[in-house]
Amino acid sequence: MAAAMSAASVGNVKVGGFLGSSRGFQANRGRNIVFSRKIMASATKEAPRKGAKEAMKDTLLTPRFYTTDFDEMEQLFNTEINKKLNMEEFEALVAEFKADYNQTHFVRNPEFKAAADKITGPMRKIFVEFLERSCTAESQGFCSTRSWEEGSRVTRKYTFFKPQFIFYATYLSEKIGYWRYITIYRHLKANPDYQLYPIFKYFENWCQDENRHGDFFSALLKAQPQFLNDWKAKLWARFFCLSVYVTMYLNDCQRTAFYEGIGLDTKDFDMHVIIETNKTTARIFPAVLDVENPAFKEKLDELVVLNQKLIALGDSTTPAPLKTLQRLPLIAGMVSGILSLYLMTPVESGSLDCVDFEPQVVY
Ligand SMILES: [Fe+2]
Repeated sequence: MAAAMSAASVGNVKVGGFLGSSRGFQANRGRNIVFSRKIMASATKEAPRKGAKEAMKDTLLTPRFYTTDFDEMEQLFNTEINKKLNMEEFEALVAEFKADYNQTHFVRNPEFKAAADKITGPMRKIFVEFLERSCTAESQGFCSTRSWEEGSRVTRKYTFFKPQFIFYATYLSEKIGYWRYITIYRHLKANPDYQLYPIFKYFENWCQDENRHGDFFSALLKAQPQFLNDWKAKLWARFFCLSVYVTMYLNDCQRTAFYEGIGLDTKDFDMHVIIETNKTTARIFPAVLDVENPAFKEKLDELVVLNQKLIALGDSTTPAPLKTLQRLPLIAGMVSGILSLYLMTPVESGSLDCVDFEPQVVY
């Protein structure tokens, strides 16, 4: 897979919806596990339902479904094969999942309907689109498992990832999701005039689920130190960080109206989320990116400009062959931009010690 293509698709594991949440493992009859990720607009060829909003285009930024090597997964986490495996941490985390602290967290009360009625004009369209993206993302795991069980009349396309890469990507996606939720929550708590819908008030508890999901993947990684302790691991760690950060930045910069609508500056919001996610990730990944270096943001902004040009070109009436030609330098620019971000001097990091995640920074 080409680097740019990989970067974009990997990054989507978490950031397809505005809340950027995801499902983790979708277990189905023992060995069959689907890592379903986000909105899968491209994978279904069904006719859109009546009244459906515009279907999303299949682009490099479109989220996908992932599958993995189940035999390898079995080898990694079979206590018969891997006698040193410490199951205590997994069991504790699984017990937390079973407890499902947020099971009764959301209660749709009359406040929701009243608030929805008040959202009018362009903001209503923007807000509905974001809600739909997020709902689709959240329900995707369920849908994929279900359709599979039913013999699936829908052809799904799965992107294959080795377990090691699934761990990196999912860890990052859960933690970045946590930082997105909590940042929005704290911002709206401090600026209640922008609290346009009650759902945001629930984010504080809700995002702890994302945090726990991330901790589970952190435990998976710690149980497999060979995925963390060599030069290859450092290269992959940087690659996955970059993929996730770039994808989120480009996606969000295409939807600034939403973030501005709730009183955030999209780029400031994203940089805050990237910096905090990077700090969290540095506790487990052996290397992370120097995201606080001003050059990092400058390069991201250059990618945004190129991406906007690509989108404008795609939407233009330019004849197809000419479009292809005009696209080439833009894609080349994006590839070299991503490469120069990747080659920036990294930050050495990581620890195999168990560190409890205690977010301290208040947005
Ligand atoms: Fe999650």
